[in-house]
Amino acid sequence: MFDDAIVKIKIPQTLSNEAILGKKIFESNCVECHGKNAVGKKKIGPPLIHKIYESSHHNDSTFYRAVEMGVRGHHWTFGDMPAIDGITRNEVKAVISYIRELQRENNIF
Ligand code: HEC
Repeated sequence: MFDDAIVKIKIPQTLSNEAILGKKIFESNCVECHGKNAVGKKKIGPPLIHKIYESSHHNDSTFYRAVEMGVRGHHWTFGDMPAIDGITRNEVKAVISYIRELQRENNIF
């Protein structure tokens, strides 16, 4: 399963409470395409722990929009991301905290 990873990352030793919640939500809604710890999944979906998704280029509103409306493939060749049902804005907020903490640990700002 790890062989499907697209990037190699460092995992922070600790996560904030919000990020711990975000990790759970990520693992039930996003992991099938973005991979465990958002390292991507070959042929399926991109890593979010990646320079492309640093907050200056993809700020938090792009995450809310991606979940609510889906994403038309443009950075990669994985195809489109569907809108994800059954997830609240607060849950997306927790996922964003999780992703940003992983990004920070990997010097992606
Ligand atoms: C069915 C597969 C799939 C699932 C499930 C999925 N994604 Fe995606 N996501 C993608 C693909 C593919 C792209 C890349 C599109 C492209 O080429 O730019 C993407 C792109 C994104 C982007 C970048 C948006 C942009 O503006 O470029 C964000 C943020 C994102 N996903 C967050 C999430 C989150 C958070 C979840 C879970 C709640 C999730 N995704 C679930 C497939 C998926």
